[in-house]
Amino acid sequence: MEIPATQTAVQVTAFGFDNFKVAQTPVPSPGNGEVLVRISVRPLNPSDVFCVLGVYPGYKPKGFPAVLGLEGTGQVAKLGPGCSGRLAEGQRVVAVNWRQAAEGNGTWQQFLVAREEDLVPVPDDLSDEAACQALINPVPVIGMFQDLAAPQGEYVIITAAGSALGRMALRYARHIGVKTIATCRRAEQVSELKEAGADEVFVLTSDADSEAMAARVSELTGGKGAWGAMDSVAGRSPLLVAPSVRQGGSIIVYGAMSEPGVEWHVGQALFRMVALKGFWLVPWLDAQPIEAQREMISKVLQLMKEGVLPPAKVDVRPLEEVAAALRDQGQVGRTDKIVLRG
Ligand SMILES: NC(=O)c1ccc[n+]([C@@H]2O[C@H](COP(=O)([O-])OP(=O)(O)OC[C@H]3O[C@@H](n4cnc5c(N)ncnc54)[C@H](OP(=O)(O)O)[C@@H]3O)[C@@H](O)[C@H]2O)c1
Repeated sequence: MEIPATQTAVQVTAFGFDNFKVAQTPVPSPGNGEVLVRISVRPLNPSDVFCVLGVYPGYKPKGFPAVLGLEGTGQVAKLGPGCSGRLAEGQRVVAVNWRQAAEGNGTWQQFLVAREEDLVPVPDDLSDEAACQALINPVPVIGMFQDLAAPQGEYVIITAAGSALGRMALRYARHIGVKTIATCRRAEQVSELKEAGADEVFVLTSDADSEAMAARVSELTGGKGAWGAMDSVAGRSPLLVAPSVRQGGSIIVYGAMSEPGVEWHVGQALFRMVALKGFWLVPWLDAQPIEAQREMISKVLQLMKEGVLPPAKVDVRPLEEVAAALRDQGQVGRTDKIVLRG
């Protein structure tokens, strides 16, 4: 691959939505055990919005201008000295962690240096647009089902199940024999979520919805309640979900689509012993040896191909138009994942 002297990079000059700049920057060189990757596509995730706002704990730029972007797919452009021979130039790869991204040197640019040991080859029959979604959404699906350890045949509640991650969770649950109760905020999404693999679907936005759901879940589970829940909405959502969760069950709050706070009732904790827990991909993956991290991503890529972790449909935009793409990211009812190509 011909490597130019400079590249296109989308920089931010400060936190906030109005501080983007498209710049030409030098292409870096890979050091010992490192690989230069030509990034081709990157998905936009809710975590990118938190990065832009400066509130994502996984993004602490050393200074400005900085480059955002925590995930992406690319091609090996150049192997640095001391690489093992596991990868070849031209090979398509994803990373278990684009480590420089956390410091403000992320995937919203054309070339990025990665540690060779962090890179995983992409199978030939998986598109760049699918492969670029292999880290941030699928890994928590696997991790949270491991944490909940629901026995086969039990129900798990997934809130905002129409999200890209939620849809993967619905399919993955089927794969491991767990039943799902999906919730959403729009009635028109109910039939769509049944088609996406949910066993039961509820609109859940009010106390009345919460009571109706708890009554039906009680019927479905012989009075026991759902084994546990995964919530990405926060705010009042865990409180609305809790009456449907079994005594002693857990609600994993892994996102904050509504607000950063969580409303809770001591009765759920004290008398029903329902636990609120968190899940964050970064420490969960990092706690494992690097070989296990690579195996996890290889497994995800395979499960994506098999439709067990279906990649979201994509809306491809030019890299340079990231500011407009970020505005569209917040639209209610957006169906496709925005990916940036360039
Ligand atoms: N903890 C972790 O390690 C981790 C890792 C990855 C992702 N996440 C979290 O997972 C969540 C999903 O990510 P994604 O990329 O799959 O998202 P996505 O595809 O952009 O979907 C967002 C979903 O959230 C729904 N939503 C937005 N605001 C809502 C609200 N106030 N009340 C109810 N529903 C609301 C949307 O519903 P409509 O269709 O009605 O608009 C949509 O279905 C995010 O919260 C993200 O931060 C966490």
